[in-house]
Amino acid sequence: MPAETEHKATKMPEQGLSQNAVLDELETKLQRDLTYSSGKILCSMCTNPHNFSKQIYRQYIEKNLGDPSLFPATTELEQETVSMLGSMLSNPHASGSIVSGGTEANIVALWAARKLANKERGEVVVPVSAHYSFDKACDLLNLKLVKVKLNNNFQIDVKAAEDAITKKTVAIVGVAGTTGLGVVDPIRELSEISSKYDLYLHVDAAFGGFMLPFLKELGYVSLDFDFSLPSVCSITIDPHKMGLAPIPAGGLLFRGKLLAEVVSTKIPYLSGDETEHSTLLGTRSGASALAVWALLKHLGRAGYRDLTEQCLGLTLKLVDGIERIDGLNVVTKPTLNVVGIKPEKVDVNLIFQALRQRGWAVSLFSDYIRIVIMPHTKPLHIKRFLEELQKIVYAITK
Ligand SMILES: Cc1ncc(COP(=O)(O)O)c(C=O)c1O
Repeated sequence: MPAETEHKATKMPEQGLSQNAVLDELETKLQRDLTYSSGKILCSMCTNPHNFSKQIYRQYIEKNLGDPSLFPATTELEQETVSMLGSMLSNPHASGSIVSGGTEANIVALWAARKLANKERGEVVVPVSAHYSFDKACDLLNLKLVKVKLNNNFQIDVKAAEDAITKKTVAIVGVAGTTGLGVVDPIRELSEISSKYDLYLHVDAAFGGFMLPFLKELGYVSLDFDFSLPSVCSITIDPHKMGLAPIPAGGLLFRGKLLAEVVSTKIPYLSGDETEHSTLLGTRSGASALAVWALLKHLGRAGYRDLTEQCLGLTLKLVDGIERIDGLNVVTKPTLNVVGIKPEKVDVNLIFQALRQRGWAVSLFSDYIRIVIMPHTKPLHIKRFLEELQKIVYAITK
């Protein structure tokens, strides 16, 4: 066992404090947290949830999807939610669950793939750009993660993916909206390979899933990434990212009921005769699923289309501003609302540190700074950010 390090000890009070005292303490302590409304959070794939979803979440906070016989109506509405998400992804007959987030969705998808393939020490082929949740999933499931290089467009290199397939491969993963650059892998080609080798294909659209269908409708992209492709077995799509839902709300959709049932576990002690779970969690938030249900109904396709257009429009303004700053480039023209900023000559870390010192929360990737333009980001925030960025670059390079 590793040697333990000392954690700061916090004692529970013997006598409870008044609610006001607790609230005061909480408010004081939480002051160090950043807020979305400040406009300084440019590194998150989450955002301030829509007010209506907060209301629904609060109202139904006690619902437990882990016990469907107690909450049959909530369970039915979860399935309606999955079906509505499925209809966004070309398959209203999709089966699945509202889960805790993209990580759980990806773990459960690989769990299903592993069970279906039933191979000893199976392997999973992913692009190097895949999210760290696949490292976690493979570690947990005793699968070998095979990371494949990218092509010049930062997408999975399809030839390298095919070359990486062995007798032990249990799944291929394509990403529709990478964490680093928002790039969409060539899922059509991955689907062809999957069908050639009869392999499970999982698409991680945790981030892109709420934008790509609408970008397509708006004519910005013509990419196929969803169940319209015959080999796609499951898709991760996260309402708590671009879906505007409160955390936790991830989505895992299987092509159909039979696939979803691969990971189902009977829970005999619960009050229903036939209670089964197809999720990692047991007790899980019904309020999350209801909040997503309510949002999909309230915003409708038109609402999400407008949101997509708003975020992409601002992203393109940011790109324009970056390209006007001497010594800076964007890594690649964005498909989604994710931008990589790369300096030509100076160490990217210097710019990152300077931005952080000025309170800007941005992410540092290998050789670029990543910005995500979420619904909480407004034109004024981008204007201020660009002004400060320009000053920082000038100060470093002069
Ligand atoms: C593409 C992708 N997949 C999965 C995840 C994990 O999602 P979560 O943080 O909700 O577990 C992320 C998180 O940013 C992501 O970008």
